Amino acid sequence: MRKKIIAGNWKMNMTPSEAVKLVEELRPLVQNEAVDVVFCVPAIDIVPVAGAVKGTNIKVGAENMYFEESGAYTGEISPKMLVDAGVSYVVLGHSERREYFHETSEDVNKKMIKALEHGITPIMCCGESLTQREQGITIDWIRQQVKVGFQNISAEDAKKVVIAYEPIWAIGTGKTATTEQAEEVCYAIRNCIAEIYGPSTADEIRIQYGGSVNAANAAELFAQPDIDGGLVGGASLKPDFGKIVNY
Ligand code: PGA
Repeated sequence: MRKKIIAGNWKMNMTPSEAVKLVEELRPLVQNEAVDVVFCVPAIDIVPVAGAVKGTNIKVGAENMYFEESGAYTGEISPKMLVDAGVSYVVLGHSERREYFHETSEDVNKKMIKALEHGITPIMCCGESLTQREQGITIDWIRQQVKVGFQNISAEDAKKVVIAYEPIWAIGTGKTATTEQAEEVCYAIRNCIAEIYGPSTADEIRIQYGGSVNAANAAELFAQPDIDGGLVGGASLKPDFGKIVNY
């Protein structure tokens, strides 16, 4: 049985002091030992949020990371820094990073390898645009993102990764994928992992759905056989996130 994982992606929201207030508000609402709860927060919020979640079930995630240990990479943050600050998850290859910051699947792969080396669990995002969906190339595209993302990663490590399927047209639009659409792609992702690593890895790996998840649609989405939780943007900044965690 795969444990569900529900992660909030705060994106570029919340100053450090606002972040602490939000954690204090959400802390009592997200207590559910049956699921893994993660707050993925802006880099500058990591230290205060890690302090504010101490002693609770909430884990802290970063929203990005660089693939080098240290050195002359102005503005970047290394896995070592994240671990020392109390981070256990990192969102990699979010569509906003791919689109606005030109991250490629090859970059995502390098980051995946580094994160795993440091014991950080990657939440690797994949997803198609509306044009790709209309062209009928959704599954081909996602398989490519997954195959490149997992290059040179062992089966042992692959099991630890969380994959987030996020159709780009559903992100921040209020236009959630139907449960059938979400399940179809998450099933295809699991099959792709089975092709690479075999059925036991595919059975263990957790696959989230993301894209306008809210308190009203979470239960139905998370009930699908291949959906093991959600990556939640907008609704993770509101008390609604408690309802999603306790779907
Ligand atoms: P949304 O964002 O829930 O606001 O659609 C999801 C995400 O980008 O991870």
